[in-house]
Amino acid sequence: MKKIIIDTDMGADDYIAVQLAILSNKFKIEGITLVNGNTSMENAKRNIFKTLDMINKLGCVKVYEGSKNPIKDFMINTKDNAHGNNGFSDVIYPKVNGQVEKTNAVDWMIKKVNDSPNKISIVAIGPLSNIATAIQKDKDFEKNIKEIIIMGGAKKSGNITPYAEFNFYNDPEAAKLVFESKIKNKIMIGFDVTKKVTFFSELENLFKYSYEKNAKFIYDITRDSAKLDREKNKVDGAVISDAINICYLINKRVLKLKRCNVKIETNKIEYLAQSVVSFEKEANCKIAVDVDSKKCLYVIFSTIIPKLKKSIKKILKCKKTN
Ligand code: RIB
Ligand code: CA
Repeated sequence: MKKIIIDTDMGADDYIAVQLAILSNKFKIEGITLVNGNTSMENAKRNIFKTLDMINKLGCVKVYEGSKNPIKDFMINTKDNAHGNNGFSDVIYPKVNGQVEKTNAVDWMIKKVNDSPNKISIVAIGPLSNIATAIQKDKDFEKNIKEIIIMGGAKKSGNITPYAEFNFYNDPEAAKLVFESKIKNKIMIGFDVTKKVTFFSELENLFKYSYEKNAKFIYDITRDSAKLDREKNKVDGAVISDAINICYLINKRVLKLKRCNVKIETNKIEYLAQSVVSFEKEANCKIAVDVDSKKCLYVIFSTIIPKLKKSIKKILKCKKTN
């Protein structure tokens, strides 16, 4: 089984990504590390335990509290409210009793990776503050990571500014440090690709009126981002960016990747956090250039809501999916 660490800022699409990773039974999830981004650390803690409890997996994986701020004090208020103030479209739900571990996320991640060199993949689905802090704190960490699959950036058009995507814009210096690091295998799945995978046009009503608790909850917590997607990102919504990272690790054929050079802009304020992609310069990573949206939607939702698998397949009119 692939050993992974999920580093997350616990918005609505993070909810889907974490459940997909657990219910796919394809991964040994070494731990889940929380980072400030979509919402506050306090809300991220509430959200992760709700995420695990909804699929009866509370306690199945250890959770660690990480960075509450970007690595540089240039804190921009990027609460773009894509996921409401609490990260879950401000859906109110009873607090689930869960405890984070005593060790902080960065120290735990450094030890876990260094104790198993080249064995652990990091799935980064929030700002890169934890990863960058770990690289700064320990000289071996970056060399011992097997691979990092980053949801962030965009070859063109951002979702926060015309140039920048939320995770990178939330901590531009961290993103810069990660792309300049010695991490051997960096994969960037950018918003220009993930925004092609939306589910409201096909599955909104199935989930909205479903007796399946998880389906209804997914509808409720993605409502805000679906509205923003329609108004700002000009896609039907709801975009579920983070789930594509996990989907790729389950079935690599869902993405088309290309080697390239990515440089993160941190000086020109108008272009702050832009991921500048070049296919001519020396490659330092691979980026996603296309996605099989229907295959992703089928893998994601038939895995996390198995009781709706037949309806999902019928609605998506899926080709044979393996
Ligand atoms: O731009 C999309 C990313 O920002 C996703 O990770 C989403 O959860 C938010 O963190
Ligand atoms: Ca996220």
